[in-house]
Amino acid sequence: MAFIPYGKQWIDEPDVQAVVKTLESDYLTTGPKVAEFEKAIAGYCGAKYAVAVSNGTAALHIASLALLKPGAKVLTTPNSFLSTSNAILYAGAKPLFVDIAEDGNIDLDLCESMLENDPQIEALYAVHFSGNPITQKRLAALKRKYGITILEDCAHSIGAEREGIKAGSCIHSDASIFSFHPVKHITTGEGGMVTTNDATLYEKLKILRNHGMVKTPDMKPWEYEMRTLGFNYRITDFQCALGLSQLKKLDDFIARRRELAIHYDEAFAEDELIRPLYLYTKNSSYHLYVVLIDFQKSESKREDLFVKMRKKGIGLQVHYIPINKQPYYKALGYGEEPTPVMDRYYARCLSLPLYPALTDKEQEYVIRNLKEMVHG
Ligand SMILES: Cc1ncc(COP(=O)(O)O)c(C=O)c1O
Repeated sequence: MAFIPYGKQWIDEPDVQAVVKTLESDYLTTGPKVAEFEKAIAGYCGAKYAVAVSNGTAALHIASLALLKPGAKVLTTPNSFLSTSNAILYAGAKPLFVDIAEDGNIDLDLCESMLENDPQIEALYAVHFSGNPITQKRLAALKRKYGITILEDCAHSIGAEREGIKAGSCIHSDASIFSFHPVKHITTGEGGMVTTNDATLYEKLKILRNHGMVKTPDMKPWEYEMRTLGFNYRITDFQCALGLSQLKKLDDFIARRRELAIHYDEAFAEDELIRPLYLYTKNSSYHLYVVLIDFQKSESKREDLFVKMRKKGIGLQVHYIPINKQPYYKALGYGEEPTPVMDRYYARCLSLPLYPALTDKEQEYVIRNLKEMVHG
């Protein structure tokens, strides 16, 4: 059996043809496919505007520059990839790490009590962890009551929906970001997107993506003006051609991910040592399938399990090492926040292989080996 990674892209012949066709066109960097992909993602999510960029971190960077004031205090989660809070630092703002709830998402009760006690908190960066969206009702209530800026990190959650609201629609947030890294639901190789319903923010994002440059109809043909310090975060046309082709398959990809999640749930239903992070919910678009393992009682400790499963040709991953405990963050004075749920979670979590191309047979092989190693 070929190696089974924890996540993997699905590329088929129509994807290849879409890229080749664009490579043979007049446009390699910004061309018609960029605008088409932006329109398609905005339409899929139900947001007014979308700005495509070179990766999800770039999306977070420009969104943060546009949304945050230097020095602003921003609530965020330790249970994410580094970029979520790094982007807060890029903007000169100050992340405040909040503990997670039992489902791996930021604890909104704790957010509320922090907002209640500190009027200087200006924003919330929430990640819909693993594809399981946090409640939109709560986001709406927090925004209304405290007037905070909200960014939704939807890198895990394209296609997810809660309370009838699709991830990235920005109904109760100022902006959302996406990543199209190959382990995500759809890929452009590297790629990212910001969605928003705010026209002013949209204009700012487009300028930040392209060196802070502005070109207006009244300027001479060669003229442009640099009005802010921006970046080259442009994505190529052939990447967007791939994104468009992938987007056609997104709902099928999600359906398969959900099917696999249900199989995993069933396999671990009676298991005392292996427990799903949360039981099946159709809200989740299942970027990750996380189990919590009782390593106190398990035959194999986590390190052994990683090595032994790899020898069997199975890749596992840990999502995530608490960001606030990274050396860089510790040097900034972080790391001692009271995050007991995150600490307990981190000691037990493991992400199992989950991607649309994973076959039933491969999944059974993963389950069998995991059980054998945990139970002995
Ligand atoms: C939650 C989250 N946010 C942001 C990112 C950054 O995306 P990218 O890798 O495209 O820069 C990732 C990617 O791993 C992520 O998982």
